[in-house]
Amino acid sequence: MADASEFQDRLLSLGLARVSEAAALASAKLIGRGDEKAADQAAVNAMRDQLNLLDIAGVVVIGEGERDEAPMLFIGEEVGTGRGPAVDIALDPLEGTTLTAKDMPNALTVIAMAPRGTLLHAPDVYMDKLAIGPGYAPDTVTFEMTPAQRVRALARAKGVAADEITVCILERPRHEDLIAEVRSTGAAIRLITDGDVAGVIHCAESEITGIDMYMGSGGAPEGVLAASALKCMGGQIYGRLLFRNDDERARAAKAGITDLNRIYTRDDMVTADVIFAATGVTQGSILQGIKTEPGWVTTETLLMRSKTGSVRRMSYRSPMKA
Ligand code: FBP
Repeated sequence: MADASEFQDRLLSLGLARVSEAAALASAKLIGRGDEKAADQAAVNAMRDQLNLLDIAGVVVIGEGERDEAPMLFIGEEVGTGRGPAVDIALDPLEGTTLTAKDMPNALTVIAMAPRGTLLHAPDVYMDKLAIGPGYAPDTVTFEMTPAQRVRALARAKGVAADEITVCILERPRHEDLIAEVRSTGAAIRLITDGDVAGVIHCAESEITGIDMYMGSGGAPEGVLAASALKCMGGQIYGRLLFRNDDERARAAKAGITDLNRIYTRDDMVTADVIFAATGVTQGSILQGIKTEPGWVTTETLLMRSKTGSVRRMSYRSPMKA
C-alpha cells in the first residue's frame, strides 16, 4: 500500500478536473443522438488520453469492465506517466449513457483518485445502497431498518414529519416493493431513470436538490464512486453487494472479496483521503450541462478533496474545436 503522505491531492486535483472535463467535451456532440455506445466511447477515449498525461502511477480499480470485456480503462490497466504517486483510480467516463443519448438530465463524467490500495475493488455486480447527507449522527439510518423505518428515523433526526422527506430511487421493476413501502409512509419519491452516482450526490446538497435519502440497488462500481463523493461532501452511504449467480460470485472472488454479505460503510469503500471530479454532460440539478454557443463550449465541474472538505464548482470555457 502506498504511503498516503505521498498522495499530493492538492496538486493532482486540477489534473483530475481536466480529465473529467475532457471526457464531457468529447461526448458533447453525442448528446441527444440516440447512440449510447458512441457517446461512451468518445468519453472513454478522451478520459484515457488525459489521464495518461498525469504524473501518477495509476491503476484503474473501478473501470469499464474486465480486461477481456473492455479494451480501454479496464480494471487493472495502468494509467499515467508512471512518474509520481502510486494511486487507485475509480472512473465512469459517462455515468448515464442512456441519459446522454436521450438528452435527459444528470448525465456526468466521474473520476476519483486515492492512494494505492485504498479504494474498494468492487466487482461489476449490483449493490444495495442507502445514503443520506451530512449533519446526521452515525447510523441514523441502517440496512437493518425496513425502508419505512428509515424514512421515519430520518424524519425524526431532521425534525420534520415523514411526509416532508424525499427519497431518490432508480425506477426499476425490482424496486416496486421498495417504492410502495416508502410511499406508505407519506414520503415523496424522486424517481430517476438512470445515474445513481448523481442520485446519491443529491443527498449531500438536500437544501438545493430537495433529496434527503437515496435507496435501492444499482451498480457496485457506481457505489464506490458515490462513496468517494460523499467522503468529500460529508454524508453516509452503506453498500451491500448483491449476487444473482455463480459468475457474479466468481467476479467478487477475483476482486479479492471473501465476505459476500459484508455491509460496507463509506469509509470501508474509501479507506483514505480521496479526490473526486465530475463534469455535467446533460443539464442537471447538481451541475450545469455542457453549453455550446457560437465559437465556444462551456462545462461545469465539481472538484472536491476529502482531506479539506473543499467543494469547488469550476466553469471552464474553451474555444470550440473544428
Ligand atoms: P450506464 O451509464 O453505464 O448506462 O449506467 C447507468 C446506471 O443507471 C447507473 O447509474 C446505475 O448504477 C446502473 O446503471 C443501474 O443498473 P440497471 O440499469 O441494470 O438497473
